[in-house]
Amino acid sequence: MITFNEEQKIFKLDTKTSSYVIEIFKENYLVNLYYGKKIPDINLKKLSERYRSASFSPCNPNDKNEEYSVDVLPMEYSCSGSGDFRIAALSIKNADGNTVTDIRYTGHRMYKGKPDISPLPSLYLNNDNEADTLEIYTIDRVTGAKATLYYTVFNETGAMAKSVRVENTGNRAFEIEKIYSSCVDLPSMDYDLITLYGRHVKERCREQRRLAHGIQGIQSLRGASSHNQNPFAALLSSDGNEDTGDAYGFNLIYSGNFEISAECDYQGSTRLITGINPADFSWHLEPGEAFQSPEAVLVYSDKGLGGMSRIFHRLYLNNLIRGKYKTEKRPLLINSWEAAYFDFDTEKLVSFAKEAKELGFDMLVMDDGWFGVRNDDTNSLGDWYVNEKKLPGGLGVLIDRVNALGLKFGIWYEPEMISPDSDLFRAHPDWCVHVKNRENSIARHQYVLDVSREDVRENIFNQMYSVLSKYKIDYVKWDFNRNISEAGSALLPPERQQEFFHRFIMGTYQLMDRLTKTFPDILLENCSGGGGRFDPGMLYYSPQIWTSDNTDPIERLSIQFGTSLCYPASTMGAHVSDSSRTGYETKGNVALWGTFGYELDPNKLTDSEKDLVKQQVKEYHKYYELIHCGDLYRLIDPYFDSYKCAWEFVSPDKSECLVTSVTIRRSLYTLYILKLKGLDHDKYYKNEADGEIYSGALLMSAGINLSDVKNLDGESVKIYFTEVK
Ligand code: DGJ
Repeated sequence: MITFNEEQKIFKLDTKTSSYVIEIFKENYLVNLYYGKKIPDINLKKLSERYRSASFSPCNPNDKNEEYSVDVLPMEYSCSGSGDFRIAALSIKNADGNTVTDIRYTGHRMYKGKPDISPLPSLYLNNDNEADTLEIYTIDRVTGAKATLYYTVFNETGAMAKSVRVENTGNRAFEIEKIYSSCVDLPSMDYDLITLYGRHVKERCREQRRLAHGIQGIQSLRGASSHNQNPFAALLSSDGNEDTGDAYGFNLIYSGNFEISAECDYQGSTRLITGINPADFSWHLEPGEAFQSPEAVLVYSDKGLGGMSRIFHRLYLNNLIRGKYKTEKRPLLINSWEAAYFDFDTEKLVSFAKEAKELGFDMLVMDDGWFGVRNDDTNSLGDWYVNEKKLPGGLGVLIDRVNALGLKFGIWYEPEMISPDSDLFRAHPDWCVHVKNRENSIARHQYVLDVSREDVRENIFNQMYSVLSKYKIDYVKWDFNRNISEAGSALLPPERQQEFFHRFIMGTYQLMDRLTKTFPDILLENCSGGGGRFDPGMLYYSPQIWTSDNTDPIERLSIQFGTSLCYPASTMGAHVSDSSRTGYETKGNVALWGTFGYELDPNKLTDSEKDLVKQQVKEYHKYYELIHCGDLYRLIDPYFDSYKCAWEFVSPDKSECLVTSVTIRRSLYTLYILKLKGLDHDKYYKNEADGEIYSGALLMSAGINLSDVKNLDGESVKIYFTEVK
């Protein structure tokens, strides 16, 4: 619900659990008075009286007594060059060449529902009553830049979406140099900043640091959200932890270059900005043109990081994931990559399919290597026609045989890439991303295709269309295996070259949009050398993303724990593979946290391993709803414990829960008592394995004894409780 107190000129944006307060301050500055746990008050004027200008702080010329300054006020959307020396959310280089920017309130509108910011991906509503929106209009008098600040509050879920649109209403062109999607000023720096760092095969690992004076933050300049930092950050109050304390989560619905930074100023307040990375970015706006920022998602919870994560999960399941597979059960797949890499033919794939059918799987996915003349990673990207040497008679023959066995069929693409050794490159050498007079760097023997260009997109779409429309294909894996250097487009004039990175990702979104609209029944799984583009922008088009090329279950623990800070289980691609010596039981238990599937040669499994796999397939079906729709509780996080780790899914009605515990390393002679979370104190629950009955209160306060259960290195156990009525 959003209210406006006319007399005090204060907006209050409430959800069931949080409040966010904005004041139209003196001289029509917009200030952010509060963000946190829900407060009932309507008299909030006092909150802005806390901020006094200090020596050296520039004051508004009408403030004759020099009482306040934008240097210390909690600015709702900070501007460059006009007295606020902290990070500017908006910076416009005007036709006179300076970047002094100064927006002031001019009006507002409040309504049920949410604005459409397509073609950018964003949260959507299932009905208008789910959310309320406030649009605040502002103007920068000198440039005529009209900045509209959008706020949508999700009443039940407790989340908020923010974005900004700048329109040039003046009569001279200008450049937007910075346009963050969200700026939040909190009157304390008593927080830890939690972010997700990583690299290829080690994505989204939790990192936590105490805020300090100055700027600290994360970014990507790689043209993708990247393996190295995820567009997610949390602030956790210093007294907070997994279950208690103030946790603020920030996530950007964007797959390109981003920045999330926190600045703690001299008065001990924290500004946190989220948005497009201003490095290597600017946007030229002619009079009448407008630019829309991506959407930032903000979540507040007074129940620590766990509470914050569960809000993100619920929100993304309801308001981000779309299409048929939002609700429909996903097929249990086997992927050919780790089973065969490039070394396959029709017979080998059919042999996988035969065994997969026996084991109870639903779909065979043919990964990289089916097109052009590709037998390794040195060629053929861009030549999306079948390699008949490997697949004699073509795709139709293979797919018919797989379908005849009762399995669906999926296929791999890397649409935004081009190999220098490809027919496409020989025909269109200027179609790759490049700049004048410099040689392109090469990575994995490939260049990036300039999908900011419509002609390039058209070609790639048509090539994909001719395959996907001709054959019965139920799944597409969309890969992206290098980052972008020498970033530029042959079609852009010099003054617009800095627009390239944003135009590139918008081109990708357009391709994905067209593909998913043309083939709504295809399950799209994103991937980028594992999880190099695991972000909410991609989740808007594909309900699941390959989490990491690292399929070792022990290594996967920190990756999946980190990923779960923001993203729900059903989005995390997770497969059992032949990756390590850890047993298949633990591999299955860890993969069960995600989408679950296999990535191995099933013909190589021993009979007892096959029995175990059949058992896992049954468990996949049994726990599907609980894991995909339940609430996640992180019980023991590998970030804190290098010996064991545990997590739990609880059904929304608290009638069942599944607990998984993994022994990373054995700890001799120590008690291992695991306390559950999220159950109903007053309900009684039966352990399915031994029939023992416990109260929810006991399970959560006294815990269960796992001291002698599967506690050798790499062993794991699942315990399933159901309510006794
Ligand atoms: C990287 C992906 O993460 C893998 O799963 C696989 O699809 C390879 N690319 C194929 O080249």
